[in-house]
Formats: sequence, C-alpha cells, structure tokens
Amino acid sequence: MLGVELASLVERASTEISAASDLETLAEVERTFVGKKGELVALKKTLGGLEPEERKAAGQALNEAMGQVAGQVNERRSVLAASAEAAQLAGERLDLTEVMSDMQRGHAHLVTQARDRLEDVFVGMGFTVAEGPEVESAWYNFEALNIPEWHPARGSFDTIFVELGEPEQVMLRSHTSPVQIRTMETEKPPIYIVAPGRTFRTDTADATHLPAFNQIEGLVVDRGVGLGDLAGTIESFVGAFFGHEVKTRLRPSYFPFTEPSAEFDISTPDGGWLELGGCGVVHPNVLANCGIDPEEFQGFAFGFGIDRLAVMRYQLDDIRELVNNDVRFLRQF
Ligand code: DAH
Repeated sequence: MLGVELASLVERASTEISAASDLETLAEVERTFVGKKGELVALKKTLGGLEPEERKAAGQALNEAMGQVAGQVNERRSVLAASAEAAQLAGERLDLTEVMSDMQRGHAHLVTQARDRLEDVFVGMGFTVAEGPEVESAWYNFEALNIPEWHPARGSFDTIFVELGEPEQVMLRSHTSPVQIRTMETEKPPIYIVAPGRTFRTDTADATHLPAFNQIEGLVVDRGVGLGDLAGTIESFVGAFFGHEVKTRLRPSYFPFTEPSAEFDISTPDGGWLELGGCGVVHPNVLANCGIDPEEFQGFAFGFGIDRLAVMRYQLDDIRELVNNDVRFLRQF
C-alpha cells in the first residue's frame, strides 16, 4: 500500500520539479514534498501504526524516496541557478560602443605604418620578409659585403661599435645589408627577400638625420637577372607605394657590394627629383663570399631609409618628429 503511494508521490514530485521554471517555484515544490510539513514527512508519521518488520522496510523505502526527490531538486536547482546567472549577466551588460566612439583609439606609429605598407607591396610582388640581428660582426656588416678593413667606404658608415671582443669587430649594424649575407648563407637561390629593420650610426639628430633609423633592404638572386630587372622592380614598387604618376630614375653611384651601383630617385610634383636609396647588381665577390657561384647566379639589391620615406610621404619638415612621441603630432597620421 505504502509502496504504491510512495511511487506515485515520487513521480508527481519529479514532474513538478522538472516543470519548475524558476528558483522560487522550485523551493515551493521542495517544501511540498520534502519540507518539514511536506507530503513525504507526513507519510513518515503513518509508520508508527505498522508492525516493526514492516515499519523497517517502509522506513527504508521512505528514506530512499526522500533522497531521490532531494537529489532531483538539487540537480534542477543548479540548472536554474546557472541560467538565472546568465540572465543576470546579460541584463547587467553595459553597451560601451557609444562611449568608445567618443574616445581616441590608438594606432600604429607612422613609421610602422610605412614599414607595413612596404612589406605588403613587396610581398605582393613575390618577395618574402627576412630579418637579422641589430648587433652585428664586422664580417656581416662589412667584410662579406666586399668592404675589407682597409676600404675607405668603411669610414663613411659612421659605425657605432660595441665594446665586446676585439676592437671594432662588434657593432650596431649601420645598414640592413648584412641581412643579404645572412640570407645567402642559409638559403639557396632563387632568393627574393626584403629585410626591414633598425639601423644605427653616430649621426647627431637634426632635421634630416636620426642616430637610430630604419632601412629596408631588397635582395634578388636568380639565374639571368640584371640591371633591367632592378629598374623594373624599383619602378613597380614606387608605383604601388606612391602612386603610378611618380617616376623613378637611376643615377650612377658607388657601393662596394654592387657593380654597377646606382642611387635611385623619385619624381616630385614640382618637376624635381628626390633621392630615395642605393641599389645595384650584386658584386660577384659578395655572392662568392656566401658560397654562391657568380657564374651561375646573378643578383640585384637595393636599400633605403623607411623614416625618410615617411618624411617624404607625409611632407614632414623635421625627421625628429618621428621620435619625439608627441601624441598630438602622431595622432594626425
Ligand atoms: N647599404 C647602403 C647604405 O646604407 C644602401 C644600399 C646601397 C643597399 C646599395 C643596397 C645596395 O642593397 O645595393 O647606404
């Protein structure tokens, strides 16, 4: 008799528990069935009228039923609590988009923007981006680039040396050209890379110089490439970066690591020319220094200052603006 009654009671409880849609309703269901004045407790009171043997079995069944109902209540409670919390969080969420739109958002420094754009342009032309260390040895910064110790060009680099080991053997790189050597030492041709990065010289900062500045180096090593490919590459890059109305020209020049060497200029709207950087056909000695056979492979290279490029592009009148870090200035770009 009690068994039947219990079973239907547990079933009813379980239906009501799953139907409870909030914590309050659930608490009430709990009170109804397992509370002090609940139905199961009420059944317990009827146990007194039973024979001892029967009472024991019935008591056990009743306890089991209470445990079962309490368990179901707890399970349901955690489900409801979790969704109540989620609802509360959703309700308390603040929409900050309106506040944000009034605030100045940070952005990349204009030199970083120029560097990123340059990388994009060259990657679009099939180049990959290479990097090298800012502290270099004389081999990478000079010797392998066909600038031996006695070479007068060595003096023109105004190199900042690091006091480490033999004098004048360790230095802050004075150009990004050492990355050419590092790349040719570790990669086999065909090589198509650009290497942007920081470079250093003993220059005192003035309107057109910074002691720490940025260059980007380009290097191509392949079969049958020459000056025409160099000129075409410079023209394509300048067109993509400055716009196709801007023209380029090469002027004969001298660098120890290229032969022939040139400086390249871009046209200005007023009919003049601005010098952008140096370039040339990679000197056979440089290829040989890196274990590349100059009879089989040829190359061309170029390098120029990124900061100077930013100065030209944004028509700044002092390159030091780039490092003063005045946000009122930087914000404009
Ligand atoms: N490294 C040179 C400098 O800093 C620039 C340069 C000239 C790089 C000719 C080149 C090149 O790759 O071919 O003055």
